[in-house]
Amino acid sequence: QKADESSDVDASSDDEDEDDEVNKTTEDSEPKETTSSCQETEAKQKVTEEKKKSDQDGQREKKISEQNKELSQPAIFIPVDRLPEIQEARLKLPVLAEEQVIMEAVRENPCVVICGETGSGKTTQVPQFLYEAGYASGSGIIGITEPRRVAAVSMSHRVAKEMNLSTRVVSYQIRYEGNVTDETKIKFMTDGVLLKEIQKDFLLQRYTVIIIDEAHERSVYTDILIGLLSRIVPLRNKRGMPLRLLVMSATLRVEDFTENLKLFRTPPPVIKVDARQFPVTIHFNKRTPLEDYTGEAFHKTCKIHRMLPPGGILVFLTGQVEVNTLCRKLRKAFPFRKGNTNTADTSEAMRKFKKAKQKKTSLPRIDLDNYSALPVDEGDEDREAGIGDEEDEGSDLDIGDDPADTEEKADPSIPLYVLPLYSLLAPEQQAKVFRPPPPGTRLCVVATNVAETSLTIPGIKYVVDCGRVKKRFYDRVTGVSSFKVTWTSQASANQRAGRAGRTEPGHCYRLYSSAVFGDFSLFSEAEITCRPVEDLVLQMKDLNIDKVVNFPFPTPPSAEALVAAEQLLISLGALKEPPRTGSVKEMERARLSCPITPLGRAMASFPVAPRYAKMLALGKQQDCLPYVIAVVAAMTVREIFEDLDRPTHNEDESSKLTQRRARLTQMRRLWAGQGASLLLGDLMVMLGAVGACEFAGCTPKFCEENGLRYKAMVEIRKLRGQLTNAVNTVCPEVGVFVDPKMTPPTEHQVICLRQIVLAGLGDHLARRVHAEDVLDPKWKNGYKTPLMDDPVFIHPTSALFKKMPEFIVYQEIMETTKMYMRGVSAVEAEWVPQLLPQYCHFGSPLESPSPWFCSSTGTVKCHRPSTFFRVGWQLPAVEME
Ligand code: CDP
Ligand code: MG
Repeated sequence: QKADESSDVDASSDDEDEDDEVNKTTEDSEPKETTSSCQETEAKQKVTEEKKKSDQDGQREKKISEQNKELSQPAIFIPVDRLPEIQEARLKLPVLAEEQVIMEAVRENPCVVICGETGSGKTTQVPQFLYEAGYASGSGIIGITEPRRVAAVSMSHRVAKEMNLSTRVVSYQIRYEGNVTDETKIKFMTDGVLLKEIQKDFLLQRYTVIIIDEAHERSVYTDILIGLLSRIVPLRNKRGMPLRLLVMSATLRVEDFTENLKLFRTPPPVIKVDARQFPVTIHFNKRTPLEDYTGEAFHKTCKIHRMLPPGGILVFLTGQVEVNTLCRKLRKAFPFRKGNTNTADTSEAMRKFKKAKQKKTSLPRIDLDNYSALPVDEGDEDREAGIGDEEDEGSDLDIGDDPADTEEKADPSIPLYVLPLYSLLAPEQQAKVFRPPPPGTRLCVVATNVAETSLTIPGIKYVVDCGRVKKRFYDRVTGVSSFKVTWTSQASANQRAGRAGRTEPGHCYRLYSSAVFGDFSLFSEAEITCRPVEDLVLQMKDLNIDKVVNFPFPTPPSAEALVAAEQLLISLGALKEPPRTGSVKEMERARLSCPITPLGRAMASFPVAPRYAKMLALGKQQDCLPYVIAVVAAMTVREIFEDLDRPTHNEDESSKLTQRRARLTQMRRLWAGQGASLLLGDLMVMLGAVGACEFAGCTPKFCEENGLRYKAMVEIRKLRGQLTNAVNTVCPEVGVFVDPKMTPPTEHQVICLRQIVLAGLGDHLARRVHAEDVLDPKWKNGYKTPLMDDPVFIHPTSALFKKMPEFIVYQEIMETTKMYMRGVSAVEAEWVPQLLPQYCHFGSPLESPSPWFCSSTGTVKCHRPSTFFRVGWQLPAVEME
């Protein structure tokens, strides 16, 4: 069934449906007001009157089948019993004035775009309009997607509260959790969750309306959802069960959606919500900005607090570490409350974990054909596709110590109520920003760009904008990632400024000059154009969209990125290798439309990136699955270890940190173990950390003492549960379960794990370059990868830093001071031809024109004909004799 529906999606030139059918039904059955027990206010009455008027207009057309009528047009007005104060507050929201226009547009068009300033009430009110108009009165429900988990959770709570309904009715679903019930009528979710639902039910039959919120953020999943829904909506309409799509966006660049003929043949109407935005005075810095913008932000905030009238301050920085640093400084300068500390000792659990009896017999081998795969029909409810949604953390910047302000005026005795806000912050902490600050204090929120559009913080009058954003950069060719702080876009900067004018005229202090602002790009780039897309391609193939190039992306990823993704998926065995016959053109075309394999289907059902999914699929061998699940979970969750390279601010702290660093390094060495387990390298450290932490009951105390990030460990625990369910669904006979007191792997299992890791990370293989073979000193301790001419290195904090194995695989390359490989694991040379034949070129060493890994530029000379194969990139696989 899935196949035949999505084949429609595949053809990009597919005939868009006659929406006529639907349009006929639409105007006819206006919502009829029955009763409304809620307090009717003037504005509401006006809206109702207008509704009645359009009702009369609508009566002109009355020729639709009863069935269509029922499905397309809710006929009842569902009263909502709001509290008077809530009702009063919502009437002030600009979006309320547009209710009638919005609802009419939704009735008459399958897709509608709503644009409005952040804070105008789109997210909280539009679902309520639809609910009241009866869109969830039958069995169907209203779905809203958010790119950020924080927003999905907090918005569902907010809307439930406004509507005076239980969270059983207004619910949320995010990657690991949710409170959806049979009674749910309005469901907030992350975009990844909806994408997974499309895989299970392509027509999304549970929904009558889908709202894609925050479309301006251009998150990858949002983009794909819009592409998919542009096909699903006409399909549903064709089948007489209309589905409505609303796309909501903050900034005004919606042309990518509306004027993209691949998406919508008839451009959807755009409704602009005029925000009641108060004027915001922009103050630019005179000087061209300093490196030390955190310090600059500190001075500016102090100055505002000392000199300017009451009103909340919102500071935009780029990452968690900066946010925390500035919070600390501000609290110190304007004391309000004290921090807490944490001490104790529990390395016992960890030691127990490491104590294992291991026997040695003949060496195990994993079998590439022995993977978990079954026809995948049903999956796990609460899955979210791929990679997480948080903004990124990175290293810290030093702060000038002294608030050298001279022109103090206002009352400095008023405490500053300082709150941090970033994605990795615990939810209870995040929720604090919505509550009024304690009486007699001034609110100061120090945030990353999470506060830019998704969350509106009440009472902000001053914005301090550093003008930067931390972005992950990804090199398509080499696969190297790096976090870089760059200038934000003009659209983003204006968004940030807008936060100051929500309740009264405000001020925005930009820590950069107007000339610099003029050089900003107009808009931020769509995420899809700057990250690898193999996970998306796999998900699409699983939806039987074989020609991904033809998919109606709002902004398509580059052809190179698509080719690379398809190539990787073929190498992983997730896609069928295309035939090597026919003309070059035919072969090329075939390469870009490879169908999915059973292994690929199994991989697609695991909510992790394809390389890790492959490991899970192979994991059942030698009872390795619990370990593979733990390792994959740990590799997927960001930043599980405390950063030992953290810079310090003073001598005192510095010596303490040195001690701590030494202790934690020692701990990680213990986790890595010795002998066989050490060769699993950094992945063994992760496994050891997870095992030890679980053994100790995964407490904040254990994490704090052992340099683990508590939130990450909790996430790993949840992900382990989720992955376990997923594996059991795909392959029920395996029957794996999450054992909190997991014992360490045996030596045999470690060998298997290393092979499984190699099978997944095959394209991330690197070989050591020996000093004696190299003429150039830059290669000292370097490794050669197939794609790069320059050396890459094992990081000094890696478990394998001293060991320097001949062959390794790495999780990723991060460019900091050097090109460093992260997540390194050792590989035995003889495994490569067996487990990665697709990357090998076979022949006798004498015949082979170049020894393994010889660089085309000739900078590296590896005169080591030690292996009988060589690894090339994208070379056709040659059968082994
Ligand atoms: O989606 P949009 O940015 O247009 O606005 P919204 O998120 O619906 O917010 C509308 C109003 O509700 C804002 O003034 C928010 O401050 C307020 N709100 C709130 O007070 N508490 C929440 N948890 C969420 C929103
Ligand atoms: Mg919103």
